[in-house]
Amino acid sequence: MPALVAPSVLSADFGNLQRDIEFLNNSDADWFHVDVMDGVFVPNISFGFPVIKTLQQHATKPLDVHLMIVNPDNYIDELGKYKPAVLTVHYEACTHLHRTLQRIKAVGAKTGVALNPHTPVSMVKDILHEIDLLLIMSINPGFGGQKFEPLAIEKVREAKALITAKGTHTLIEVDGGVTPDNCDALIAAGADVLVAGTAVFAAPDRNAAIVRLKG
Ligand code: DX5
Ligand code: ZN
Repeated sequence: MPALVAPSVLSADFGNLQRDIEFLNNSDADWFHVDVMDGVFVPNISFGFPVIKTLQQHATKPLDVHLMIVNPDNYIDELGKYKPAVLTVHYEACTHLHRTLQRIKAVGAKTGVALNPHTPVSMVKDILHEIDLLLIMSINPGFGGQKFEPLAIEKVREAKALITAKGTHTLIEVDGGVTPDNCDALIAAGADVLVAGTAVFAAPDRNAAIVRLKG
C-alpha cells in the first residue's frame, strides 16, 4: 500500500508561507505536518498559535500537529480551536498519558503518541487501544535536516506486530530524515504515513519528491 505523505511545514519558506501552503494544497501531499517546539522539550523553538491559525485558514488538507513540548495538556483546548486532524504528544513528555489522550479526544482530534529514538515500542503496549497514530521518531526531535536513524525501521516492524496482535487501527508514522533512500524500507516494514521536510522542500521538483515518497 502506498504511504500517505505529510510534508513538514517547518521546512517551508516562512516569508512566503501562503505560497507554500498553496503548493501543498495543489500537490499530491496528503497531510500538513505541523511541528510545534517549545525550547524546553527540544533545544529549538519553532512557531505557535498564530502560524497554526494561518495554516487552518488556508490549508485544504488535514493538519497533523506534532507537539514537541512539555505540559501539552495546557494547550490542547486552545489547539482544538484550529481543528487539527491529529494531535500528537510525546510519550516522554506525558506523565499521565492516558488522561492527555482523553483530552485530545475531547477536542475532536485523533490521538497521536510520538516515541523518541530511545523509547521502546513496548512502552505503549497497554495504551495502544487509545492511540490513533503512533509516531516513530527516526531522529532526535528538534531540527529538520538531520540524518535518518536506521533503528527506526526495526521499530516500525515491532509497532506493526504489536498493532496486529492487539487488533487496533493505529496508524504508524515516521518522522526525521525520511528520503527516497529509506522510504521503501519503511513502507515495507509497515509505515502508513511518512513525514518529510528537507526531502520535499529542498527537492528540485517538490511534487515529484512527494510522489516518490509514497513508495
Ligand atoms: C523534527 C521534526 C520533523 C522535521 C522533519 O523534530 O519533528 O518533522 O521537520 O524534517 P526532515 O524531513 O528534514 O528530517
Ligand atoms: Zn515532526
